[in-house]
Amino acid sequence: MLQDCWDNLRQKVIHHLNLLAGYETQPVLRGEVVVYRTSGRSNPAKSTAISLYSITRADENTGFGKLSREASLRNGKKTKHDGVETTTYDVVFYLEADFGTPGAIAVKNRGRREFLLKSVTLEVSENRSVHFDCNSWVYPIIKTNVDRLFFANTSYLPSQTPAALQSLRQEELANLRGNGRGERKEWERIYDYDRYNDLGDPDKGLHHERPILGGTRSYPYPRRCRTGRPLSNQADENAWMSDEEFGREMLAGLNPAVIRCLERFPPVGRGGKVSSITASHIEKNLEGLSADQAVELRRIFILDHHDYIMQYLRRINEQGVCVYASRTLLFLRHDQTLKPLAIELSLPGDGKGAEINRVFLPASQGGERALWQLAKTHVAVNDSGHHQLISHWLHTHAAVEPFIIATRRQLSAMHPIYKLLDPHFKDTMHINSLARSILLNAGGILEMTMFPGKFALEMSSAIYRNWRFREQALPLDLLKRGIALEDPGEPSGVRLRFEDYPYAIDGLDVWVAIKTWVTNYCAYFYPDDRSVASDVEIQSWWHEVRTIGHGDKRNDEDGCWLPLDSVANLSQTLTTLIWIASALHASLNFGQFAYAGYPPNRPTRCRKFIPHEGTPEFAEYLRDPDKYFLEMVPDRFTTTLGLALIEVLSGHTADEVYLGQRASSEWTDDSHVLHMFQQFGDDLRKVEKRIEERNGNRGLKNRCGPAQVPYTLLYPDTSNLGAEKGVTGRGIPNSVSI
Ligand code: FE2
Repeated sequence: MLQDCWDNLRQKVIHHLNLLAGYETQPVLRGEVVVYRTSGRSNPAKSTAISLYSITRADENTGFGKLSREASLRNGKKTKHDGVETTTYDVVFYLEADFGTPGAIAVKNRGRREFLLKSVTLEVSENRSVHFDCNSWVYPIIKTNVDRLFFANTSYLPSQTPAALQSLRQEELANLRGNGRGERKEWERIYDYDRYNDLGDPDKGLHHERPILGGTRSYPYPRRCRTGRPLSNQADENAWMSDEEFGREMLAGLNPAVIRCLERFPPVGRGGKVSSITASHIEKNLEGLSADQAVELRRIFILDHHDYIMQYLRRINEQGVCVYASRTLLFLRHDQTLKPLAIELSLPGDGKGAEINRVFLPASQGGERALWQLAKTHVAVNDSGHHQLISHWLHTHAAVEPFIIATRRQLSAMHPIYKLLDPHFKDTMHINSLARSILLNAGGILEMTMFPGKFALEMSSAIYRNWRFREQALPLDLLKRGIALEDPGEPSGVRLRFEDYPYAIDGLDVWVAIKTWVTNYCAYFYPDDRSVASDVEIQSWWHEVRTIGHGDKRNDEDGCWLPLDSVANLSQTLTTLIWIASALHASLNFGQFAYAGYPPNRPTRCRKFIPHEGTPEFAEYLRDPDKYFLEMVPDRFTTTLGLALIEVLSGHTADEVYLGQRASSEWTDDSHVLHMFQQFGDDLRKVEKRIEERNGNRGLKNRCGPAQVPYTLLYPDTSNLGAEKGVTGRGIPNSVSI
């Protein structure tokens, strides 16, 4: 009763206001709105507005029917029939005098949830009503950006449509047809066509692959409604074999910190030996540039596995494997993808230092294409060995261990740097010990599966000779490889020569976050450089790292270490150490199953060389290239063993502690330190957002590639408290723990 009085009063007030505003109103138009169901706590009465389009009067400006002002829903009354509950609302419109008859309604849901609209009925005169049979969900305007349109239940052929509704009718149809682009969302009403190209899921393995149905003579099929989701034919069974993916994995794959800018052409190796790759091999693929011009413009890159393998190659191959030392040249195209230009595969020659080189060039058909694929496979063998033994084991696991020992021996648990570093050492000693007992030991799994066999660790020792701790800082590594330029205006101090290098650009974001946290932390405890130089524990720690832990680098003639004589050098040193233990290791470890879980993409050794034309092996190869390939890559036992290993290594444990997290919130009683640590977490969350944005940018072609696997290996995953474990392909744990 009270509500009715209030409604009457409200209507009278609005009526008089309209008169005062110059509107002549026709009798109020009342209606009834029936809602079937709501989603969650949606309340249409609070959030829904309805406007009317006239069927008899057109708006001169828009060409659509005249549009009324909005009216809201009121007085919801619930009823239940056959177990179905509906809510009926009143609606009252105050129209301009010349509005005419309504023929369409626009429903605007300003709420956060959708509701199922059954019908709207308007009493246009005492004996006549106009009915809108809706039966449709109305989604929030914040999702749809447009009102939901319904026409009255009168039918018209196109040519008979009242003039005021013609444009509206055409626009509605155009909206329903869509433009063939974009990914469909549940609130959209777009109906366009596609082939059956999403039945398979090759990311889950060969047994999940299915052919595309429709659009070919082989597989005719009715079309389906297009969803716009990534297609399986972009993630097809041959994606891993493409030249695009071959180049992309050098920037966003498992071993992304080896590629470097070529400084002079042709490449020159150890002892001044010049590569056999000539300008005529590559110039047809340089977008009109000469080889020298392309080098000058910093657009030729090299993946160089030549010198360090060549030293061991004769002895390696005497163990029964068939491995080359490889150089791969690539061209940076205008879209920032890398196009392979040439592969040089080398074998030891006459025993006096000579080499036998073969150069392979990209080819898209025939026998040359097949040889090119075999050459890429041999490069992948080199790279997978380098990844596991050098990048992963030597540069992270082995490099960090001496720091842990020195920390335990020289820094008190009360020392602030001990507290800073401690989470970054979790489980490393244990996993390294385990690795030495079953993986790296004589006859262990790595010797059984990787191409260097018993020379694996010995070869990594030769590489350690050139390892410099200082250059493990990501900005310096990028400068050294010619990927970046110095730029004091950038937070990292460097600017990338090209931005679509997922490892580098995500890595620099993570680096800056770590550096900011460590710099603030050090500045809080060390008021000046003298306080660093006079800290007896930190100086003993550093002395021991350099002269005992990494004692073979103690002479420091190659600038391996920074002197620990300033707050800045201490911050840089600790940032580098934390970077190695956390982000660098994560980028090398947790993508192993994603990239190498399909063995043909990253075989670990080869049993056959590439046949020479005119030989019986070549004829055998031409008869059945697939058979030859399978006989070239590792046998089933070796493959299975390697797969089992990388599946274990790629998994996160439930007790993983990620960068920006601590196992205990009580790790320090210093509220200022806790505040700084919280800022570190905030910075990492901003990094996560930037990575998500980059992965959503289709213009950055190296982020996902033809296999549609986005680059997430440097996504910190700060909100993962262990619930998401196993092979997630993302997340930066604090330490080298697996
Ligand atoms: Fe690892």
